[in-house]
Amino acid sequence: NQVELKDYDHYMLKEIFEQPESLRNTMRGRLSEDMATAVFGGLNLTPQDLLKVKRIVFTACGTSWHSAMVGEYLIEEIAQIPVEVEYASELRYRNPPMDESTLIFAITQSGETADTLAALREMKRKGHPTMAICNVVGSSIAQEADGGIYLHAGPEIGVASTKAYSSQCLALTLLALYLGRLRHLSYNKGRAMIERIKEVPDLVEKALESNTKCREVAEKYKDCNNFLYLGRHYNFPTALEGALKLKEISYIHAEGYPAAEMKHGPIALVDEQTPSVFVMPHGFIYEKVMSNLEEIKARGGPVIAIAAEGDERIAEVADDVIYIPQTVEYLQPIVSAIPLQLLSYHIAVLRGCDVDKPRNLAKSVTVE
Ligand code: G6P
Repeated sequence: NQVELKDYDHYMLKEIFEQPESLRNTMRGRLSEDMATAVFGGLNLTPQDLLKVKRIVFTACGTSWHSAMVGEYLIEEIAQIPVEVEYASELRYRNPPMDESTLIFAITQSGETADTLAALREMKRKGHPTMAICNVVGSSIAQEADGGIYLHAGPEIGVASTKAYSSQCLALTLLALYLGRLRHLSYNKGRAMIERIKEVPDLVEKALESNTKCREVAEKYKDCNNFLYLGRHYNFPTALEGALKLKEISYIHAEGYPAAEMKHGPIALVDEQTPSVFVMPHGFIYEKVMSNLEEIKARGGPVIAIAAEGDERIAEVADDVIYIPQTVEYLQPIVSAIPLQLLSYHIAVLRGCDVDKPRNLAKSVTVE
């Protein structure tokens, strides 16, 4: 491989640790001069075109589908535009009603995923403007889309996506800001958002300090055969992504769920051998997640919490706590993903799995 591993044991670990830098690269050139909105040179759509957009559809596969879901939460909340998230493999053969005010975004690290390419082509055929949010420059999807956003996260070699995911989430945050500023979001609110967004690479740097703790937690739980990942609001897609990361590289069965929804099914799985990973930095929903957590504890399930630094209360109820820096809710998907990546990495290594080339998986799936 042309990309050097340097001092890391695996590409996945290297890419996890590259995130402060890859995020800086995603942000570079995308903050407006007045620091009140984002700049996208490649959308090929004027502000007038974008004002006509009444609905956005994100289509993607795998980890990119999870960042699409983060994008849905962000854009609906910040820009107040209705968003739909569709698996590319489903969208392609469905025929959902869409009119000319629907804008399509294909989200893909590689730009080569066959299902995503097929969905993009089908949407193009229907006459919709199609955009790509993509990491690989000049890839098929990047070329076929009418415009888009490059992530500039650098080459991702590990099959399990890490730095491309955080860059997708960051690009989507900037997109939400940009679309919001075209509509109701004030200059002051735009500036306040940029102030926070600029902190992301440093927050991720701090979140990476949880590595030793993640390794300790991995040692403790590595022999479990089932995991639940639970979170609400912005931390729900993160729970899905955490579960996928664990499945992909450690072959442990894991399910991601909205924390409150687990009482409608997954709580039946809870026993002493089934840890629940709660993604719960501070936010308006914290108290509710805490009561979901207590329900799991009451049924004897071990709890690993991903929580904000300084949260002492959680240490009294959870079996293990991995602390991350606190940030505003809309940036939590990026920061909270870090310990989940590290946790699955260490569990997989401790179980002797080939983390960079997990069985049955490919970096980009070019068959439908
Ligand atoms: C494969 C990879 C996943 C990835 C998915 C979508 O399944 O193993 O890590 O998330 O494809 O890939 P894309 O390149 O379209 O983001």
